[in-house]
Amino acid sequence: MSKVFSSDIGFDVALEALRDGALVGVPTETVYGLAADATNEQAVAKIYRSKGRPSFNPLIAHVSGVEMAQRYGAFPEVALKLADAFWPGPLTIVVPLNESCGIADAVTAGLGTIALRHPLGIMADLAEALDAPIAAPSANTSGKISPTTAQHVFDDLGDKVAVILDGGACAVGLESTVVKVDGEKIILLREGGLSAELIEAQMGKIERGTRAPKVEAPGMLLKHYAPRLPLRINAKSVRADEALIAFGTPLDGAMATRNLSKDENLEEAANRMFAIMKELEDSGAHGIAVQPIPHHGLGAAINDRLKRAAEGSGD
Ligand code: TXA
Ligand code: MG
Repeated sequence: MSKVFSSDIGFDVALEALRDGALVGVPTETVYGLAADATNEQAVAKIYRSKGRPSFNPLIAHVSGVEMAQRYGAFPEVALKLADAFWPGPLTIVVPLNESCGIADAVTAGLGTIALRHPLGIMADLAEALDAPIAAPSANTSGKISPTTAQHVFDDLGDKVAVILDGGACAVGLESTVVKVDGEKIILLREGGLSAELIEAQMGKIERGTRAPKVEAPGMLLKHYAPRLPLRINAKSVRADEALIAFGTPLDGAMATRNLSKDENLEEAANRMFAIMKELEDSGAHGIAVQPIPHHGLGAAINDRLKRAAEGSGD
């Protein structure tokens, strides 16, 4: 079983484990990551095995800053501007891969591009100390909901990781927004913890990428966010055998109710969503009904994850 340490106390143990090619559960501001040294082919292979993740779905490489990022990817002007505006933060930038940069092939799944993110906090500190990027998908078995606490990681992957760093509940609670930079263009590949509106306020209009497999992010159509219970979105009423995920004023009549945000605050809703889904899986209900969530700001990413959970599909 993995050893769990609070982030500050466990830093050196986690660094040693990464140097040894082991897996470490590491908090970020978005969700917990299943981390390995991104330059160690065997360590990266362990990530895919432990998650049951298909090898064609590439990983995000987490860096300590834009300097490290530029060792691995080619940053055009637009990408530098994005990094300058939003790093460290919940934004992943896909750029052309620098050939022979030393990244393990499995990280990029042979795409010729690399997804880079400078996260806030301990993950970036570990990359700095390792002097190499850290490959990390969300620390959940493929097909399960992303973890936002150390306990979630322990429950799901405790027998597969050497060390888990406990940094408390993640501040954002949703995975990073993924954009691809293609010359001057910015293409949104995955909605996430940084809203498209905020990116556009800084960078001007951005394009929406298609979600077709093999086009941009091959993993996007894979079963990923599904909770164990059937989930119904945009519910206007609720059955007595259902659990309810409310937003604002809750509907009456559910056998269990959790509110994403009484005040209809989308940041709060994003932050609580995955944990609430996990809780309600154990409520004894036959299904989960979710009240409508507005589609602006972080609502776009929340609705994306809910839709994938409802369809049993997604990234
Ligand atoms: O917040 C997050 O993004 C978390 C934390 C740990 O950083 N990580 C995360 O990783 O959610 P994961 O593996 O669950 O999702 C990464 C997404 C997938 O949709 C993957 O297909 C896409 O990024 N991706 C990775 N490399 C790519 C590339 N070269 N081109 C296009 N998409 C890529
Ligand atoms: Mg994931």
